[in-house]
Amino acid sequence: MNDLRDKYLTAIADAAGESALEDLRLAAVGKKGEISLKMRELGKMSPEERQVMGPKLNALKDEINSALAAKKQALSDAALDERLRTEWLDVTLPARPQRQGSIHPVSQVTEEVTAIFADMGFAVAEGPQVESDWHNFDALNIPGHHPARAEMDTFYMHRADGDDRPPHVLRTHTSPVQIRSMELAGAPLRVICPGRVYRADYDQTHTPMFHQVEGLAIDKDISMANLKWVLEEFVKAFFEVDEVELRFRASHFPFTEPSAEVDIRCSWEGGTLKVGEGDDWLEILGSGMVHPKVLMAGNIDPAAWQGFAFGVGIDRIAMLKYGIPDLRAFFESDLRWLRHYGFAALDVPTIRGGLSR
Ligand code: DAH
Repeated sequence: MNDLRDKYLTAIADAAGESALEDLRLAAVGKKGEISLKMRELGKMSPEERQVMGPKLNALKDEINSALAAKKQALSDAALDERLRTEWLDVTLPARPQRQGSIHPVSQVTEEVTAIFADMGFAVAEGPQVESDWHNFDALNIPGHHPARAEMDTFYMHRADGDDRPPHVLRTHTSPVQIRSMELAGAPLRVICPGRVYRADYDQTHTPMFHQVEGLAIDKDISMANLKWVLEEFVKAFFEVDEVELRFRASHFPFTEPSAEVDIRCSWEGGTLKVGEGDDWLEILGSGMVHPKVLMAGNIDPAAWQGFAFGVGIDRIAMLKYGIPDLRAFFESDLRWLRHYGFAALDVPTIRGGLSR
């Protein structure tokens, strides 16, 4: 009996885990355990023997049971301690900013532009990136033979063999959203249309996908003067300067008449751009009064309504404002670049709260 006692007490003390402990319980005091079998033998003993052995076996069984219970408690305490140790969390530690994501300059600038124009009563409109060639070209007064079609390095979609309708295109500019907005909402109208555009071109300042924002305002009595004021307000707000001088250069776009390219006065001291002062001019956008044929394509009567439109390269003004030298890096997803040029996620640009701080 002493051998049994030593054997099980040592084994219980050494048990490494709960399942080893359960094996020991079965082997000692389970139905077919060693001690249970011994108790069954009591029946075959003489009454005198039984009177000695009975209490001894019972005491041994109790001792093993309480050793098992104590070890079980110790094991579960140790397991809990281990969990508390490994799952410990210091909730007073500050957040780790270097692990946060950031807002891409294109998203940031799109938000900035949207905030500025929203403040002047412009809504945001969107259109498809896979566009009909009618919306992308014809409706904008760019007929089939027009050189602008070739100049734009258009990506054409595939048509099934034997289908000779003109193929859809990846829109080459955001101007088709002018047509879609007119079709949808009619006049009067005041929208900006930011989004992705595509041209087969690739160098330091061109990528096959880039971003533009289109502006369109249509009303009864609207002129180049309104266009000029709106663009001045935009440039001042965007570059966060109090004064800016704009230069309207006569130009040509098929969808506007007259057309103007707009330059802003600037300087490039020490390689950094300063807007509003200096002897240089920087071209930032194309604009003009909407061509009557374009209004007609959008089901708007050019005898009753007129309007202005403009188109700006979002990536281009992002590069200018934030001093980013190479456009291609915008779309390479290099984490070092994103961390350097990205914006904090909670700094939402607003007119009154500040655009870029
Ligand atoms: N769609 C022109 C482009 O991609 C930009 C543009 C110029 C848009 C003049 C306009 C505009 O709305 O009036 O180059």
